[in-house]
Amino acid sequence: MSDRTAEKTTEKVGEKPATKPVYVLNGPNLNLLGLRQPEIYGRETLADVAAALADLAEELGLAVRCLQSNHEGQLVDWIHEARLQGAGVIINPAAYSHTSIAILDALNAYAGPVLEVHISNIHKREAFRHHSYVSGRAEGVIAGFGTEGYLLALRRMKTLLAKT
Ligand code: DQA
Repeated sequence: MSDRTAEKTTEKVGEKPATKPVYVLNGPNLNLLGLRQPEIYGRETLADVAAALADLAEELGLAVRCLQSNHEGQLVDWIHEARLQGAGVIINPAAYSHTSIAILDALNAYAGPVLEVHISNIHKREAFRHHSYVSGRAEGVIAGFGTEGYLLALRRMKTLLAKT
């Protein structure tokens, strides 16, 4: 029996190694995606985004855990959870991008890859949106690609995780 065949016969059908999920975290007001300022954020809902991410994750052999909160402390708690249970973090901190040292500190305590997503191009908007605390920690930032930005971030996450 060749080594290849031996390897095949010891593999149990349906028993995959547990894949740690990529945490996809969304900050305040993103629960209103699709309804809120659609001229800026589009008509897709967060549930649509989560479904598209789940499909893409399956295609890429990844798992995703999509979460949204309007509360800064909850986002911090999920980042802490990701320290033990997450393969990576994709985060749209929404308005907290521009204010939250607590989210930055939590991400600085997280060892895995972090990608930041903004649906709109924050650099084309009001000056107070031009600075994000999270950008100083993120491996990469995607802004202005609409909700497609989340899917691009997941593809990039796949590349980053393959390197680790
Ligand atoms: C946002 C941009 C932020 O400035 C804003 O507060 C949001 C959404 C975006 O996805 O474009 O809520 O993060």
